[in-house]
Amino acid sequence: MSRLDGKVALVTGSSRGIGAAIAFLFAQRGAAVVVHGRDLTALSAVQAEIEHAGGRAIRVAADATKFTEIEAMRRQIERDLGPIDILVANAGGSFTPPGPLEQISEEGWHASVDGNLTATFLTIKSILPGMKERKSGNIVTISSVAGHRPHPRSPIPYAAAKAGIEILTKDLAAQAGPYGIRANCIAPETILTERNKQRIPEAQQQALIEAHPIRRLGTPEDVARAALFLASEEAAWITGIVLDVAGGAVMV
Ligand SMILES: NC(=O)c1ccc[n+]([C@@H]2O[C@H](COP(=O)([O-])OP(=O)(O)OC[C@H]3O[C@@H](n4cnc5c(N)ncnc54)[C@H](OP(=O)(O)O)[C@@H]3O)[C@@H](O)[C@H]2O)c1
Repeated sequence: MSRLDGKVALVTGSSRGIGAAIAFLFAQRGAAVVVHGRDLTALSAVQAEIEHAGGRAIRVAADATKFTEIEAMRRQIERDLGPIDILVANAGGSFTPPGPLEQISEEGWHASVDGNLTATFLTIKSILPGMKERKSGNIVTISSVAGHRPHPRSPIPYAAAKAGIEILTKDLAAQAGPYGIRANCIAPETILTERNKQRIPEAQQQALIEAHPIRRLGTPEDVARAALFLASEEAAWITGIVLDVAGGAVMV
């Protein structure tokens, strides 16, 4: 059973969804967890849930697309908990509908690329120097199977941003490995977060299930367990990989 005792873990975008499940599991396995997002009410709820289950958590608010806010957040975490040992750069989402390339607005493009690829880059840019100084650290990024292949349900800006996160993670793994830092990426298929349960109609959920060799959709906990493995010492010789958490729906 993987343990993260004594580790400080920042999970960006953990005020809900997949990030909240990762934060909860990491706290259960002994990490002091930083719950991050922008919605203060949601942040408090996740922090309370972790503490209620006996875990340790603080909450921080910052826009992950703004470097000054990320830097202020990092300094606050270092002051309150100490240096960050584990970063899960999870904040993101799809901010444009799928459709023909020429119909994508400039704003829609920037929203998805900034909200995923740039946010991941800026978060790592802030936290990596300290990890390099300490010669240890662990980074997990979150892409999507949308970044692996074209699909009518995948908005192009989101898919392109997630593909970018994958090569960014591999470059990071190559550069940071000599400093004792590992970096890996998780690519989920459709995960039944509370938001997706409301967003995806029941009939469409059934159709999606049929597309998965393992006949169900993923849960936030499926992704959390993969993140725990990659962040733990059990994955000590694994770096630079993209791990599909996809129920077999995508095999490339
Ligand atoms: N759910 C899926 O099916 C699925 C599949 C593949 C990949 N993914 C990826 O997995 C990650 C989590 O997805 P999810 O479904 O759990 O999303 P979600 O339920 O929409 O939650 C997104 C989280 O990211 C935070 N966030 C987004 N943009 C932010 C910003 N600019 N600054 C700070 N926080 C920001 C949100 O915080 P606030 O709400 O507090 O602002 C929230 O905590 C995303 O990167 C997503 O692309 C999800």
